[in-house]
Amino acid sequence: MTVKTMKKKIAVICAVLLFIALTAVFLYCQNNLIETTYFSFSSQKLPESFDGFRIVHVSDLHNKSFGKENAVLLKKIENEKPDVIFITGDIVDSRHTDFDVSLSFAGQCVKIAPTYYVSGNHEHRFDNAEEMFEALKNIGVTVLENEKAEIRRGENKITLYGLSAKQEDGFLGDYSSQIKALCNEKDDSGFSVLLAHYPQYLSNYAQAGFDLVFSGHAHGGQFRIPFTNQGLFAPDQGFFPQYTGGEYIENDTVMILSRGLGNSLIPLRLFDRPQLICVTLKGE
Ligand SMILES: [Fe+2]
Repeated sequence: MTVKTMKKKIAVICAVLLFIALTAVFLYCQNNLIETTYFSFSSQKLPESFDGFRIVHVSDLHNKSFGKENAVLLKKIENEKPDVIFITGDIVDSRHTDFDVSLSFAGQCVKIAPTYYVSGNHEHRFDNAEEMFEALKNIGVTVLENEKAEIRRGENKITLYGLSAKQEDGFLGDYSSQIKALCNEKDDSGFSVLLAHYPQYLSNYAQAGFDLVFSGHAHGGQFRIPFTNQGLFAPDQGFFPQYTGGEYIENDTVMILSRGLGNSLIPLRLFDRPQLICVTLKGE
């Protein structure tokens, strides 16, 4: 082999190695660098003392840990100085069953701000989901499984509703009666917020007249088409899903949909970095 051929071979090997290294770094960033997305929401219905109220929204952690014991994620949440933290389900994963990662994360959230939780479909795949809800309650998380809670600030309050991901009429059944039952308790005059894991029922949420909805489940469509708001696939919605991430408006209802933080069956995200959402409420 001549010196020239040898040099050529080394250059090709170096180029291939560089390509592999850059791809590995790129994929690592796509799946581990958290992107914080900011929204502001204004409404005439918002009570005066809630002007400037900050909500951090966490969804679909799937037992993932960003840094040791989620230190990176928790620092990001703390930096936003939230008044409340909302967790919209799939905090655990039915394939990665270490509850301690998620319970420890939720326990640290409570130290930052009052934390409210609704379940996702993954929690309900476990026989001991109720035990997990009890554990969350014991560490100070408000669990809203088809329940409501009041959030007070100054002299005012807003009402927070939580819709369980456990579909009482069976998986992918008609969820509307369950939604209706929760909504029957709704005080139509006040500002209302709904936490609901599934985004594809936005029409039902809008029909019920919720002002603001926080949702997850779609994982941003897992692989997103760059420079668009289109994802490739989402559970229950199939290919090219309608709801993948961001803000959706129907009638007078605004839904904030998180792309989530972790993965489940498909352990890879592309152009769909893990997302933390921060919403500031504003009076009009
Ligand atoms: Fe999920």
